Amino acid sequence: MSFDLVFFGGTGDLTWRKLMPALFQAFRHGKLPPGGRILSVARDEQSDEKYRSWLKDRFQDVVDAKRPSDEEFERFAQLVHYRRMDLSQPEDYLKLKKWLEERGADTAVLYLATSPHLFPMICEQLGASGLNGPHIRVVLEKPLGHDLQSAQEINRVVRSVFSETQAFRIDHYLGKPSVQNLMALRFGNALFEPLWRRESIANIQITLAEDLGVGTRGDFYDRTGALRDMIQNHALQLLTMVAMEPPSRNDADAIRDEKLKVLRSLKPFTEESVARDVIRGQYRKGTAGGKAVPGYLEEAKVPADSKTETFVTLRTEVENWRWAGVPFYLRTGKRLAARDAQIVVNFRPTPHSIFPGVNQPNKLVIKLQPEDGLELHLLAAKGSGQQEALSPVFLDLDFEKAFAENRVGAYERLLLDAIAGRLNLFVRSDEQEQAWRWVEPVLDAWERDNAASGGPRPYAAGTWGPAAASALVARDSFAWAEEQ
Ligand code: BG6
Repeated sequence: MSFDLVFFGGTGDLTWRKLMPALFQAFRHGKLPPGGRILSVARDEQSDEKYRSWLKDRFQDVVDAKRPSDEEFERFAQLVHYRRMDLSQPEDYLKLKKWLEERGADTAVLYLATSPHLFPMICEQLGASGLNGPHIRVVLEKPLGHDLQSAQEINRVVRSVFSETQAFRIDHYLGKPSVQNLMALRFGNALFEPLWRRESIANIQITLAEDLGVGTRGDFYDRTGALRDMIQNHALQLLTMVAMEPPSRNDADAIRDEKLKVLRSLKPFTEESVARDVIRGQYRKGTAGGKAVPGYLEEAKVPADSKTETFVTLRTEVENWRWAGVPFYLRTGKRLAARDAQIVVNFRPTPHSIFPGVNQPNKLVIKLQPEDGLELHLLAAKGSGQQEALSPVFLDLDFEKAFAENRVGAYERLLLDAIAGRLNLFVRSDEQEQAWRWVEPVLDAWERDNAASGGPRPYAAGTWGPAAASALVARDSFAWAEEQ
C-alpha cells in the first residue's frame, strides 16, 4: 500500500520533536509500509536537501536510544520532501494536489500540525481544492478548540469537508502502550472483569504528574491551563478506558460508543460541586531535581498577574450501575514532585480481618510513565510467627522488559494507524464535544471566581500540589497513592 503523509506545519516544534522522530523509529523498526513519501509544508522557501539537513541537526537531540548513523538517516531522509506553502492561498493547495496526484498513492494522510486556529481555514481550503477524496485522511492535533463552542465550530467545518471516518483526532495518550494494555488487561483476560465494579472497587485515581514547568510554552499555556491541556482530553480518555463496558467488537465505533456512554454518565458539575470537588493550583518557586526553579508567574511569556491553573485535582463519579458511588479522582500538574503517570485501582478492604495490624487493601497500579507496567499489591505472611502482621508485597510486571523488542512509541503507533486507516485509538467528534460539555461548568465557575478576586491556590514547585488536594481525597477517608 503506497502512501503520502503530509505535515502542515512542517517546520514547527511538533513535527521535528515528535512526528519525524516517530516516523524514523517506524522506519528503523521496519514498520513503515514501503512506497511511502513524507512531505513537510511550511512558509519558508527551501529545497528538500536543506530541509533534510535542518531535520538532521534536530534529530541529534530527540531520537531516543540509538542515534541514527549518517547512512541510516540518509536512507530515511530519501523519503522526506519539502515544499513551500502559504496556507491562505488556494493556488498552493492546487499545487499540493498536483504533487500528490502525479504519483497517485493509495492513501494520503494530511496531518495538521499547525496552530489549531488554522484548522477551519485549512479544511475549507482542502475541500475547495478537492483534497478530500475518499483516499484522503486528515489528522487533527490537539488542542481541538478552547471550549465547547469552538470545538463544535471546528467539527462543523471538518464534517462539511470530510466524513467522520476520514477524521483522525489525536490524543497521544491513547497511543501509549500501557493504555492499550489496559484494554488487553480488561477485555483479553477474564481475571479482573468480575471485580471491576463498585462491589469490589473503593476508588480510582488517575494521576498525570509532570516535574517540568511550562518551559518555552508560556504564552500557549497561559491561554490554556491544566484543565484544558490535560484533563479535558488525556485524563478523561483514560477514565473512559477504565470505566467503559466491554465493547462487543474490537472496532473503532464499538469502542468509541462505549467511551461516549461513560462521558455521558459523568456526574455533571454545578457551581457548588466545583467549589467542593475541584481544586486548582499554580506553582510558586521551589525545587526540581535538586535545583531551585522559578514560580509560574516568573516564567517567560507569562503575565505577572496570571490566574491560569498549572494544577487540577477533581473528584467525580460515573453514574451508572457498575460505578455508582465510586469516586474517580483525576489529578494533573506541572512542577510536581515527580514525572509520574498512573492509574491506581484501590480495592475494598476485606470485610473482616483475622490478622493483627492495619491491613492495606489490594490495589492495582497501571503505570504509564516513566516506566510502563502493572503492579498488583497484595498482603502476605513472611512466615515468622503465628501472631505475625501481614506484609505488603507486589507483583510487578515490567512491559518494557517483557516486550523490549516490540515497543512502539505513542506517536509511532498513531501515525502507523492513521496510515493504515485504523480509527480505534482516535477520538470521535461526539466524545470530544461531550468532554468539553462536562468541563465547561468548571471553566465558567473559575471565570466568575477570578472576577471576584479568587484564583488558583499556590503550591511550591517540587511538591504534590496544594494541601487541599490531599484533603479532597481524605474527605472520603482515602489517600493518594504516595500518601498510603
Ligand atoms: C501535551 C500537553 O498534550 O501532553 C503538554 O500539551 C504535556 O503540556 C504533554 O507536557 C505530556 O505528554 P507526555 O506524553 O510527556 O506525558
